[in-house]
Amino acid sequence: MIIEPRMRGFICLTAHPDGCAQNVKNQIEYVKSKGAINGPKKVLVIGASTGFGLASRITAAYGSGASTIGVFFEKAPSEGKTASPGWYNSAAFEKEAHAAGLYAKSINGDAFSKEIKEKTIATIKADLGQVDLVIYSLASPVRKHPDTEVLHRSTLKPIGGTYTNKTVDFHTGNVSEISIEPANEEDIANTVAVMGGEDWAMWIDALKAENLLAEGATTVAYSYIGPALTEAVYRKGTIGRAKDDLEATAFKISDKLKDIDGKAYVSVNKALVTQASSAIPVIPLYISLLYKVMKAEGIHEGTIEQIQRLYADRLYTGSPVPVDQEGRIRIDDWEMREDVQAKVAELWKAATTETLPAIGDLAGYRSDFLSLFGFEVDQVDYQKEANEVVAIEGLV
Ligand code: NAI
Ligand code: NA
Repeated sequence: MIIEPRMRGFICLTAHPDGCAQNVKNQIEYVKSKGAINGPKKVLVIGASTGFGLASRITAAYGSGASTIGVFFEKAPSEGKTASPGWYNSAAFEKEAHAAGLYAKSINGDAFSKEIKEKTIATIKADLGQVDLVIYSLASPVRKHPDTEVLHRSTLKPIGGTYTNKTVDFHTGNVSEISIEPANEEDIANTVAVMGGEDWAMWIDALKAENLLAEGATTVAYSYIGPALTEAVYRKGTIGRAKDDLEATAFKISDKLKDIDGKAYVSVNKALVTQASSAIPVIPLYISLLYKVMKAEGIHEGTIEQIQRLYADRLYTGSPVPVDQEGRIRIDDWEMREDVQAKVAELWKAATTETLPAIGDLAGYRSDFLSLFGFEVDQVDYQKEANEVVAIEGLV
């Protein structure tokens, strides 16, 4: 079958197995090229199939030779439909890892549910005994609460007033003004329920109750801050409240892990094109300007460069983990550099449909977006029939 991208709004309905596999291989090669990290040995990654979570799994496996269990929620291929990209990514990762002699197993289902936590716990018990690193990298629009069964939906809204700013449709390049109505209390509570820290704490409680966290275990969840430009819709909006809650949860988890000398961190990461971020208004315009500036400065990074740096230069240096005044790890340091932000703010003022192709990296945005689905990946011949991938090797 020849597979082509089929767009609907901010999502692509198709994914290319060979492109996804090539992306995984490229990430593996990058981590290997950076050399060994004296890092984790047994790792659970929740949200392991795409974005920062996939990069976390690859860095653990190929930087430190770690055994990994990946949890994700992805679609297998079905009659007339390709799988979701994270499914192909995971199939490729498992195949590569096993060929390299690395333990890898995957669990596909709702990480918010009791059932998937139980399945994961049983797998750790049977195969690994304990884990020494738990990465929490979920990005989801909904969460069915395991106790109440209420389905919470997150929103991306400002708080306190209507937010009006520029945005771009990155498919057409059209820059327009967008107004987003403010959230009500229910929107805030729902977003915190989905993207806040409660489920992270539930995972850690469940693992600890079964004595599955090794002495000195670390857990890390990912957050974002970003510039003044996006503050009203991101950090001071509904999603920002959820991130505040996630960051507060790190301290609560650290307290609970004192007896095993464990620690919970939030790492603040760079804005990047992922399935999650492309759905947020205003952010794609910011990212296309940011990419332009960071590429010109030679400091652009993708998810794998970010996470390799997180492990090698922050978490596993042999010295105390450097954190900011709020106790957070910062790998958004290059994005937030004053000179970078000053340039982006200048470009932001000048950004129109006409100017953006020259002043922004719209082409880089689009190509990164397509690449998430396995398209426009350099080493792949798209004229050839795509390989059929029908199973994930280590699926539990
Ligand atoms: P992503 O969309 O690439 O990855 C999300 C992962 O969560 C996938 O593995 C998916 O299968 C999994 N998932 C979603 N719902 C699930 C469920 N119910 N059960 C099991 N697995 C589920 O997202 P991305 O961007 O890597 O986000 C991960 C974290 O990083 C989020 O907390 C996000 O806020 C944060 N972050 C993202 C930034 C960005 O610019 N993309 C910047 C800084 C932080
Ligand atoms: Na992820």
